[in-house]
Parts: sequence; structure tokens; C-alpha cells
Amino acid sequence: MESPLTPARTLTDLSAWRAQWLAARDDPDGYWLERARALISWRTPPTRGCEGDFWSVEEAPLRWFADGRLNVSYQCLDRHLPARAAQTALIWEADEPGRHRHVTYAELHAQVCAAARGLERLGVEPGDRVIIYMGMTPEAVVAMLACARVGAVHSVVFGGFSADALRDRVLDSGAAVIITQDEGRRGGRPVPLKAAVDAALAGSPAAAAQVRAVVVSARVGDEGRAGPAWAWVEGRDVPWAALVRDDAPHEARAFEAERPLFILYTSGSTGKPKGLLHTSGGYITYAAHTHREVFGLREGDVYACVADVGWVTGHSYIVYGPLANGATTLLFESTPLYPDPGRYWRLVETHRVNILYTAPTAIRALMAEGDSWPARYDLRSLRTLGTVGEPINPEAWRWYHDVVGGGRCAVVDTWWQTETGGVCIAPIAHVTPTPPGAATRPLPGIAPVLLSPEGRLLHGPAEGHLCLEQPWPGQARTVWGDHARFVSTYFRQHPGRYFTGDGCRRDARGDHWVTGRVDDVLNVAGHRVGTAELEAALTLDRRVVEAAVVGYPHPLKGQGVCAYVVLAAGADLSAESLAGLQATVRGAIGAHAKLDRVLAVPGLPKTRSGKVMRRILRKVAEGALEDLGDLSTLADPGVVEAVVAAGRG
Ligand code: WTA
Repeated sequence: MESPLTPARTLTDLSAWRAQWLAARDDPDGYWLERARALISWRTPPTRGCEGDFWSVEEAPLRWFADGRLNVSYQCLDRHLPARAAQTALIWEADEPGRHRHVTYAELHAQVCAAARGLERLGVEPGDRVIIYMGMTPEAVVAMLACARVGAVHSVVFGGFSADALRDRVLDSGAAVIITQDEGRRGGRPVPLKAAVDAALAGSPAAAAQVRAVVVSARVGDEGRAGPAWAWVEGRDVPWAALVRDDAPHEARAFEAERPLFILYTSGSTGKPKGLLHTSGGYITYAAHTHREVFGLREGDVYACVADVGWVTGHSYIVYGPLANGATTLLFESTPLYPDPGRYWRLVETHRVNILYTAPTAIRALMAEGDSWPARYDLRSLRTLGTVGEPINPEAWRWYHDVVGGGRCAVVDTWWQTETGGVCIAPIAHVTPTPPGAATRPLPGIAPVLLSPEGRLLHGPAEGHLCLEQPWPGQARTVWGDHARFVSTYFRQHPGRYFTGDGCRRDARGDHWVTGRVDDVLNVAGHRVGTAELEAALTLDRRVVEAAVVGYPHPLKGQGVCAYVVLAAGADLSAESLAGLQATVRGAIGAHAKLDRVLAVPGLPKTRSGKVMRRILRKVAEGALEDLGDLSTLADPGVVEAVVAAGRG
């Protein structure tokens, strides 16, 4: 534990950041090949950097390190065994306060080997897809690494997604195996995981025919048994204990660097979620590099990212980045408010956490509970505080910095996306000056530019569409099964550049302030939800003829969801029908897609060509009723009065 982190961190002062940023701009292949060889134990080290560019993605996905060969689970486990077998790899903090468990690198390695053998016995071959639909338990991490070990492609579906949303992902990915849990636990409440899997498969003969095995890990019940809310399907369901029964060593076969590692579904501008595909060598290099540099990781650190493994933050900064770096990473099953608003701070004190990574939504919720909660606990172990998922308002930033960090800690506001694989714009802890609320500067190898919506390049201080000009190894290669959608979503509006879908302001110092989505995606409490997905869900309800959903500023969640609905004749918005609408949306997407406001309107404001004018709906939802802008292109200006009246009501 005393030996220094190898290789050492490189971005230790501003001049190093500047020198590396210029080096990575001028010779990206040289820069990234050096990083890849320094950080990763390759079976065959790569000699080739990036193949392709942002003009050629339409013909073929980008490739990085194409002649290198590696096994990602070897990088995260086997390579550490000589020095770290007895070191804690995972600290599991269970939902029940006071319950936790340490898993060493040797133990995690043994479990992953056993699960890899089990997957092979189930007939899982390299390239096969496996859906992981679990809560925050060590078994979820074992499942991910076991897939990586055998060359299977995992797709973790966040446990809050409904059975319908799960079924869509099962079908789209073509997965033959699902790994789940009897029940999850969050905030003292059960999360019906196995029951949702059963419902997803029962509701679709195609999905039922496609999935040949459902592995069930027991979190609350008995191994291999039906529970109060779930059945046991003989011949299809496999107890976790049977999966991991053979604990002989398992040799990690080397795969090519562009071997698909995982698919992660995220919301876009259409109703159909898109599965971003990440590959192996470039992704793990980028996750390891950004994790150690941005947070300022040190040997012996306890690092806690309190996100969920169902989101990309959990992939890159609970599992792959920290384990590739040989760190001790914490897995948090609960919520910031359970059993009380001191949960995070007790977690920090109990485990002597050095680096804490969370979302602005959680910080705002805890700030609202007052300073007395953090004051009760010993938070002196903290050195770096990270945030991710949405812009952080300066007030919450200051509270995090002053009250949680005692003014001593670096606060790193990290901007990135499911698509980028890892952090792209962020301060380097204890190196970059940090104006509260800014994501500050690009990491080496990341070349942000701002463009007007029409595609004019903006210079100096400006606000516009955030694009990245230069490929980097961690970026998603395609949308699973739909490369045309990948190209049209990210490379069409601003040709030759990757368009992030975010707006951003750059100030005179060159700091970046990401302002939020400029497309039809909402960011609710740090979770991406597409307006089209919500609208499709609402119109599943017989009471709704037409729906339009917009976001509006929400004090705790960042963005709230406001739905305008045109009701069928005879329907009304009684408390009962409101509850019915919420249930429909929950059923189609999941509990995180809650409607904050529902307004009944006689019609939606549309242009003469029939396009809903969301700008007007957004203004009304924000309460900016006086300033609705140009209404001359509306097909029926009278509708606006009714919309405004609904907004007032
Ligand atoms: C937003 C999460 C401002 C942004 C890693 C982005 C942020 C979307 C920040 C991606 C930040 C993420 N400041 N906005 N520090 N981090 N976002 O795919 O709108 O779940 O496009 O990835 O979250 O969300 P995703």
C-alpha cells in the first residue's frame, strides 16, 4: 500500500496541463499511444493510434489501437494481484445503515473467474450480449467483469427502468442471457428486479424466445427459490450460486482492442433509446487516465462515486477506471437521504473517503437539509470533491466546497456524456483554478469549439453549440445496430465535428460553462430523459390524444418535467386520472421519469407545417408569460391564450 501509484500521475501543475494539451493536439497518436502503453497491461501493445476521422465516420467507425490485444478484466484484476491481492478492491455499503463488506482484489478476481466459467457453461461466446439488470451489489460488478473476461458485451440496464423499457433493451441488444437479482433495496424500499424481468419476457414472445437463461442473484430471498413477488422458471432461471460454482482459475484470453465491451442505452431526440457501443482498448485507456488525473488519485485512497452502475458514470468511475488503476472503489446501494440526510457524511467518516463524486441534484437536496448534517461527522479525510451529470449552480458549488470540503478540497465539475466514455472538460484537482459552476478546461486530447446553430465558428468569449474537433480513444464508436443514427445524431448538423447536443459559454479566460441540452433531451436530476420518449409514453394512455413535454428550471432537480396534454372527449385531470398518467409513464419508462406538472390544453401551439412550437411551451412552463416571442408563424394563435391560461392556473 505504501508504494506510489504506478505510473505516476502526470498532470501535476498547470504547465504540465498546457504542455500535454499542446502535445495531444499536435500529435494525438503519439500522445495516446504513450498513455495506452503506460497505463494498460496489453498482451500485444498497440503501435497504431487512431484510424479514421470525423469526416469518415459515415463510411466506417473510428478505431483506436487496432493492432493491440488485451483483456479488460485482466487489466482490472489479474495485473494487480502481485502487489494488491490483499488490498480492498470494493467496499460495498449496503442500503441498511451500518452494513458493509470489503472485497479484496484476490476475492474479486476469484469471483469473476468463477462467473466467467459459468457464463461459458451457459454457452456465452465472445460477442454475445448479456443484459445486467441489478441493484448496486458486488455481484453486479462481478457480472460486468465476467462478461469482459469472456469477450461478451454487457448492457447494464438501470434497475429503475420498468419492465417495458427493459424489454425494449433486451430486444434491441439481442441478448440471450439476463443477469438479475431477486429484489433490489433502495432507501429501505424493495426494487422488483426479478419480477420486472419476468414481466418483460412474459409480455413478448420474441424476447422470451431470445433469452435462454436468467441468472438470479439473491439479495433478499433464498438462492434458487421463488419469492413473494417473483416466480422461479425451471429450465430458464439459474441461481447465482450455480453460475459461480466452479472456482478454478480462468485464463483471460486476449481480444483485439476494438472488441465491443459494452452497450449503454441513453435517451435521444426520438422515442427509441439508442445503445451507444463502447469498445475495449481505447475505452479502458481513457477511463484509467481520466480517473487518476482529474481526481488526483493517490496510492491508498478510498474513492467513492455514489452513482449507479446503470449509468455511464458507474461504468467508467465506479468500475472500469478505478479498478484499472488498482484503486479501492466504493459501491453505494442507498440514497443520500436514507435513513437521514447524514448518510453521505457518515459514509465518508466510516470509510475515510478521500475522493467523493456525486451529482449536483444530491448536493442541492442535502444543502436544503442544512449545515448541521455534515457538521456532525468527521470529513477531514476528504481531499477531492467531484460533480457530474448537470450544471452545478454556484450556490451549491460553494456549499460543497465550504461546508462539505471545509474549504480545503478541490471541487472538480466534470463535463462528459455516455457518448464520450469519460470526462472531457474538467478541472484537474488541486491544479486548475475553479470559478464556481464552471467545468473549466478541456483535458489533453479534447478540442472543444463553439459554433452558432448555423455552423459559424465562434471565437473568443462566446456562447454556442459545444462540439469536439478531434477524436479521443474513449468515445463511443456507433449506435448498436444503427450506424446511420450515430452519424446523423452526432456528425450531421456540424459536419467534421462531434456535436455534443449541449450548449456552452466560454468566457474571456477560456473557461467553459456548460449551459445544458440544446436538443429535445431533458436532464432530470442528472438523468437523461427524451421528451419524445415521455410523449410516446403519455399517448399510451387512452385519456391523452396528444402530448408535448418540455423541461423547466427546477430548484432541486435542475430540470423539471412539464407535460401539456390534449385530453380525449370526456376525460379530465382529476387526481385519479393524474395518478393514472403518472402510472402509465412509470410503466413505460421507469420511476425516475416522473411528471412534475401536467397541464391540460385544448390544443398545442403549432406552426403551419404542424411542428409543435416548444419554445412557447417552455416559456409558459418557466412562468415567462409576458415574453413569448414571435407568434406570427403559428397556425392558430388562439391556442396560445389557452396555453397561457393553463400555465397560470
Ligand atoms: C449533462 C453523464 C453540465 C450534459 C456523465 C450532457 C453536464 C449530459 C455535466 C450527459 C456537467 C453532464 N455540467 N452538464 N459537469 N455533466 N452534463 O450521458 O447535458 O448521462 O450532455 O452522462 O449531462 O448525460 P449522460
